[in-house]
Amino acid sequence: MKPGEPLPFPNVIETERLLLRPPQPGEGAEVNVAIRETYDDLHRWMEWADHLPGVEETEAFCRSASDKFQDRTDFPLRVRLKEEGTLVAVMGLHPRDGEVPKYEIGYWCRAGFQGKGYVTEAVKAVTRVALETLGANRVEIHCDARNLRSRRVAERAGFRLEGELKNHMRAPNGRLRDTCVYAMTPPVPDPPSVVVEAAGYLHAVTLREVSGRNVRALCDLSLKPGQERFVAPNALSLAEAHYMPNTWVRAVYAGETPVGLVLLDDDPEEPYYSIWRMMIAADHQGKGYGRKAVAQIIEYVRGRPNATELLASYNQGEGNPAPFYRKLGFVETGEMDHGQPVMRFSLQGQSQEQKDDRPSDVRDPDSW
Ligand SMILES: CC(C)(COP(=O)(O)OP(=O)(O)OC[C@H]1O[C@@H](n2cnc3c(N)ncnc32)[C@H](O)[C@@H]1OP(=O)(O)O)[C@@H](O)C(=O)NCCC(=O)NCCS
Repeated sequence: MKPGEPLPFPNVIETERLLLRPPQPGEGAEVNVAIRETYDDLHRWMEWADHLPGVEETEAFCRSASDKFQDRTDFPLRVRLKEEGTLVAVMGLHPRDGEVPKYEIGYWCRAGFQGKGYVTEAVKAVTRVALETLGANRVEIHCDARNLRSRRVAERAGFRLEGELKNHMRAPNGRLRDTCVYAMTPPVPDPPSVVVEAAGYLHAVTLREVSGRNVRALCDLSLKPGQERFVAPNALSLAEAHYMPNTWVRAVYAGETPVGLVLLDDDPEEPYYSIWRMMIAADHQGKGYGRKAVAQIIEYVRGRPNATELLASYNQGEGNPAPFYRKLGFVETGEMDHGQPVMRFSLQGQSQEQKDDRPSDVRDPDSW
């Protein structure tokens, strides 16, 4: 690596169960849900967690983190389950001194995903990239001396406790804290199984914002002959999404390839969120991308205000997507919306009263 060259941190790191990727614009709502779920822990242990951020603040943070990664000046990472794409942890490899070179790893694990070894697995992988790819001579982990679970991550990942800094700083709640400094120096003691830019990543599904960079590719995605009656062309969907309020639109990616599009009727005033449009392009169908995309839509909707159910309606006819939705846990409601049968995925137990209140025209699905 020559001086002045960008640090060669990979775009993706794959471990046995996880994918570690940089933050993306548009992830703010999802990360904010994870912060809210985990706030008790974060407020106790993480220096930055002195208040519960709003979605806009988290989104601004994600965007700035994404920019830093693209510039290769810092390496914030989102840790996701390889199969489902679920966000399980947030971490970062932070350059501390380019002369040494020296880095520090920070991490937190989302409530509900702790105790499964995900963070240790991710820390081992990032440490290996730091030592072997970036040529680090030292990687540190700092944590509150009382945070035993975090200390165990450092120890299980092979870091050595070098010292305990007494009254080192104030925790977010104002308490004086001692800080444990763990460090790893080359060589990596026990090379973990980690693959950088792995082939499996080609099939990892993510939902990403539509932008000037991918809009054309999305408009070029086409369906199998005869499927056109089930969903509008993407160019029309994107134009409508632009003008219809409360529309959440995302490109479906497999690895770095755009393979589909989803539009959600996303009105926070209503408990009824619905898939308005959804398509996976002909060449990419039957590979599980649709299933993974819907799983992530469900995750997103779970974090929305008042959400009790996710609806999907479809045009009848041979090859219609009802069996697809049924396999993912949607059930027929017996109701029709603009001539289309409505299916429901329940996010929680719901009362009959709510069910009866459901508006019949959540969104005009028009002829598609
Ligand atoms: C429906 C659609 C989004 C599914 O995407 P996909 O990536 O092909 O789906 P997956 O590969 O994740 O399939 C998941 C399961 O559903 C099944 N499935 C998918 N589409 C199906 C269909 N039309 N009929 C019957 N089964 C279907 C798959 O066989 C698979 O079953 P398995 O788990 O037993 O193997 C995609 O086929 C598509 O874009 N169709 C045309 C447009 C459309 O109908 N959109 C929905 C408008 S509401």
